Amino acid sequence: MPRLAVLGHPVGHSRSPAMHNAALAELGLAGEWSYEAIDVSPADFERRVRAMEGEGFAGANVTVPHKGAALALADTLSETAREIGAANTLSFSAGEISADNTDAEGLLAALPGGSPRGLKALVLGAGGAARAVVWALLREAADVAVWNRTELRSQHLCEELGGEPVSAPDPAAYGLIVNSTSVGLAGEDPFEQLPLRRDGFAPGQVVVDMVYGDEPSPLLDAAAAAGAATVDGIEVLVRQGALSLREWTGREAPLEAMRAAARR
Ligand code: ATR
Repeated sequence: MPRLAVLGHPVGHSRSPAMHNAALAELGLAGEWSYEAIDVSPADFERRVRAMEGEGFAGANVTVPHKGAALALADTLSETAREIGAANTLSFSAGEISADNTDAEGLLAALPGGSPRGLKALVLGAGGAARAVVWALLREAADVAVWNRTELRSQHLCEELGGEPVSAPDPAAYGLIVNSTSVGLAGEDPFEQLPLRRDGFAPGQVVVDMVYGDEPSPLLDAAAAAGAATVDGIEVLVRQGALSLREWTGREAPLEAMRAAARR
């Protein structure tokens, strides 16, 4: 019985177990495969991961704060994971740990209207989440600007990955806006913390908020009210999860079942 898991710290609120177990059930694999949440401290991460194959695990998702450590301990890396500098998907086979990153491809899959090729895109943030977003958009040949509260970090990110750091962007100038900061997680007002205005969205724009919680995102509410297309963090979670599940099981993941479970 292959086991799967998400490793995080904390991980209690993760929607991945519900989402993946619903997918496994829909695929008729629930009797064979299972997916659980495992809370691992950073100090214990490497030891825990190295023990997993022996405990019957075929793979694991990795979330905050372990995505860098997951990359560092893997024996083989996908090009995507190596370039982004973070891994969210580990696979265990014959004593080897391989690492991939499905966050980037997951974001692209979640965008309405296909590839963002040629779009002017504004990415907010310069942490791990932003790196995957910037990498994905650049690979699709979008024109990427990066704003971050701490400008040194956005400058550094752009030096490494590409894109243009911006300090006072005009949001109306962008066809795609992605919030990949953590603003909103603790109920902060995005219009106070980010270079966005509540009345600053327009039809034709696509607005993505990677932050999700039990409440609807104020940023996406304002964007939708203005007629912009919106994508929430759960859709991005579902899409990265679907790609991870395909890597482990070789099966196309059932998106609708995963969405329903992730949205509870
Ligand atoms: P992750 O790996 O999940 O992206 P992170 O590396 O801690 O997490 O990055 C969090 C991001 O949210 C950063 O871009 C951070 O900005 P700083 O680099 O200036 O810290 C951003 N962020 C967090 N709180 C913020 C706030 N109140 N206003 C603006 N940006 C904020």
